[in-house]
Amino acid sequence: MPTKSKDVASIVERQSNWYSLRPLMDHLRLLVTGGAGFIGSNFVQACLRGESKLDRLVNLDKLTYAGNPANLRSVEADSRYVFLHGDIGDTGLLTKFLHEYEIDAIVNFAAESHVDRSIDSPEPFMQTNVVGTMRLLDTARKYWAALPEAKRAAFRFLHVSTDEVYGSLKPTDPPFTETTPFAPNSPYAASKAASDHLVRAYFHTYGLPVITTNCSNNYGPYQFPEKLMPLIILNALEKKALPIYGDGQNVRDWLFVADHCAAISLALEGGRVGETYNIGGLCERANIDVVDRICDLLDEMAPREDGVSYRSQKTFVGDRPGHDRRYAIDCSKITQELGWKPKESFDSGLHKTVAWYLEHRDWCEDINSGNYGRERLGADRSAEMLAV
Ligand SMILES: NC(=O)c1ccc[n+]([C@@H]2O[C@H](COP(=O)([O-])OP(=O)(O)OC[C@H]3O[C@@H](n4cnc5c(N)ncnc54)[C@H](O)[C@@H]3O)[C@@H](O)[C@H]2O)c1
Repeated sequence: MPTKSKDVASIVERQSNWYSLRPLMDHLRLLVTGGAGFIGSNFVQACLRGESKLDRLVNLDKLTYAGNPANLRSVEADSRYVFLHGDIGDTGLLTKFLHEYEIDAIVNFAAESHVDRSIDSPEPFMQTNVVGTMRLLDTARKYWAALPEAKRAAFRFLHVSTDEVYGSLKPTDPPFTETTPFAPNSPYAASKAASDHLVRAYFHTYGLPVITTNCSNNYGPYQFPEKLMPLIILNALEKKALPIYGDGQNVRDWLFVADHCAAISLALEGGRVGETYNIGGLCERANIDVVDRICDLLDEMAPREDGVSYRSQKTFVGDRPGHDRRYAIDCSKITQELGWKPKESFDSGLHKTVAWYLEHRDWCEDINSGNYGRERLGADRSAEMLAV
């Protein structure tokens, strides 16, 4: 499969700038949880790039199947960066680290994050997303309560959450706002909704200075290939079927990951304590359209040797049980209060994403050689169960 590598390389080279964030607060000592995953590793890299004035960035990660130390190779040598292998549910470890590294703020990315896996096996989702978040909050609260006055006032706990807590929209419904009632439909969404409620409760009950962000579907570099975009890119290149759940008309609001990271950093610096901020791409697309666009880009950037379009590999498969039909985010609050809006359009972000996967086949191979073979997860097994 020939790759138009010159084009790809020039796109990847230009990527260095899109990761830089506005400098975070001076001398901040930040604890990031789940920083070896997709969004967390993009955030860690962004925090340490450019004119960052961070004093320390501690990344606590359990390294589940989704956590990949290779995502963070570029920051390993940075003297401000510390990696800690551990679980957000381990209160002894957390207490020790918070004191040892004199943490000023926490950004909680750590989670079980894949809806299909939550259908096959909900328990780890409850363990990490609910119990783990509660333990992280409680350890943070005790640490925060004992800080000197000025440090206590400046402390922040930012919880990264999802738009899936709001449930599913009909085609003509207005997008989710921060006051849309929660209506989670998958075990994943239910566990994230529970964690959001816990974060809220720690603010109202104990005064812990929390901020919650609820974001739409992310895409970009370092995304584990169980999620739609990398799955489609890698299956296409390997001439495998491109699975499309149901009729392919499920709509998601797509946001390039660097834009999400920028929003988190702004919310951490300037967000109002106790508030939630919706973050979205202003970019609703049906899954089938996303797949078609990826195929078209691959046809341009890495055409099949036989000249046939990658679209020919599309295959409709049984739908995800309880598959939410549509998500859409109204992000006017974070735009008005903090001046955030996405920089990447769907086309520019997707172009960069496809280029990144083409240029990082070794990263993809490493994941392939692990224990994930891009098999179908979360399929409806009710017929099988009835037959037992
Ligand atoms: N990916 C999206 O589109 C999206 C959209 C909105 C919100 N979010 C939220 O953003 C966060 C990050 O998502 P992601 O896509 O990067 O997820 P991911 O699955 O790629 O990464 C999760 C990371 O958390 C780590 N982790 C899991 N359990 C842990 C535990 N008990 N203790 C410490 N570390 C643990 C994993 O090792 C991994 O590094 C999640 O909270 C998710 O709910 C994701």
